[in-house]
Amino acid sequence: MRTFKAFRLLAGDKEPVRTVAELTVDDLSPGNVVIQIAYSSINYKDALASKGLNAIIRTWPRITGIDFVGTVIDSADVRFKAGDGVVVHGFGMGVDHDGGHAQVARVNADWVMPLPKGLSLFEAGVIGAAGFTAMYSLHLMELNGLQPSQGSILVNGATGGVASVAIDILSGRGYHVTAMTGKAHETDYLKKLGAAEVIGRVEPQANPKPLEKAQWAGAIDSVGGSTLAWLTRTVKPEGVIAAFGNAGGLALETTVLPFILRGVRLLGVNANPLMPLRQKLWDQIANDYRPTHLNDIARVISIDELPTYLDLTLAGQIRGRTVVDMSG
Ligand SMILES: NC(=O)c1ccc[n+]([C@@H]2O[C@H](COP(=O)([O-])OP(=O)(O)OC[C@H]3O[C@@H](n4cnc5c(N)ncnc54)[C@H](OP(=O)(O)O)[C@@H]3O)[C@@H](O)[C@H]2O)c1
Repeated sequence: MRTFKAFRLLAGDKEPVRTVAELTVDDLSPGNVVIQIAYSSINYKDALASKGLNAIIRTWPRITGIDFVGTVIDSADVRFKAGDGVVVHGFGMGVDHDGGHAQVARVNADWVMPLPKGLSLFEAGVIGAAGFTAMYSLHLMELNGLQPSQGSILVNGATGGVASVAIDILSGRGYHVTAMTGKAHETDYLKKLGAAEVIGRVEPQANPKPLEKAQWAGAIDSVGGSTLAWLTRTVKPEGVIAAFGNAGGLALETTVLPFILRGVRLLGVNANPLMPLRQKLWDQIANDYRPTHLNDIARVISIDELPTYLDLTLAGQIRGRTVVDMSG
């Protein structure tokens, strides 16, 4: 039987043991569609999982990788046939089902989405779960009334994967974007993506006032923790915050005053919607909400470089999207 390369975590005493193994399809989690992976990527969740943090992975061994794109090799489901281009993310991929950090995946057909018309496999791979999260966040914000005329959108963790694609999409849609980053040296990159201004991170404050100067019509929050608390205090009346991240911490300490005096809307985002909405949002990404700086956002690595780049991701030292080319 044909073998392929996979980055696989084994159970370890203190943290998982990282291996690059030669496997066969029979070694993978069960499923009825087999896919030749073209590109996977590193998302922050993969980096946490690869170190055994936040108890993301509970069953071993496990191939990480919460997203991937590729071509169907074999399908027992009538919706897919050999040669179809597909996109897979979420649905427990890389968590409780073997994920995308391998040259081949085997998954349930219900989790597989046809490659959206107008996107290449590379473009869809760069966008990945991160870009989808940016799109889903903006979708929820606009459902809650957000429009470009209302003012600046704060995007924190700005050099990160979700944030980079968010800045690209938002600026393309005519929004004024303020990028918040810990990497002042990446100002030119962020402006190239479309940020109108670049500011530094806010430091946590002891005993902050419950409300501060209202500045942002909306916010895309990768960071959580004290930064999200600060956002609740500084978003304008009726402003919207899309909260999906925890790169800066899990705790959220704020008061009810932003919500009951300013009508601030805190929107939780779990970027794993059911297929109809998922397909609709991917179609928007391929058309009216299309990011136009994907080549600037992507860094392409090989499967053997995964350990290095997983660690750099966890250390917050990565810019944009780290795409894993599985062809090698
Ligand atoms: N809920 C969901 O469905 C969902 C989906 C996708 C992602 N997420 C979460 O969203 C977050 C971003 O994901 P990602 O893939 O874009 O991650 P990423 O590429 O690793 O980017 C995270 C960015 O956050 C900033 N950062 C890192 N550590 C920080 C700290 N201690 N304090 C403040 N800022 C810090 C850095 O940007 P700067 O250096 O520019 O500040 C970093 O580049 C992660 O927490 C991820 O788990 C959730």
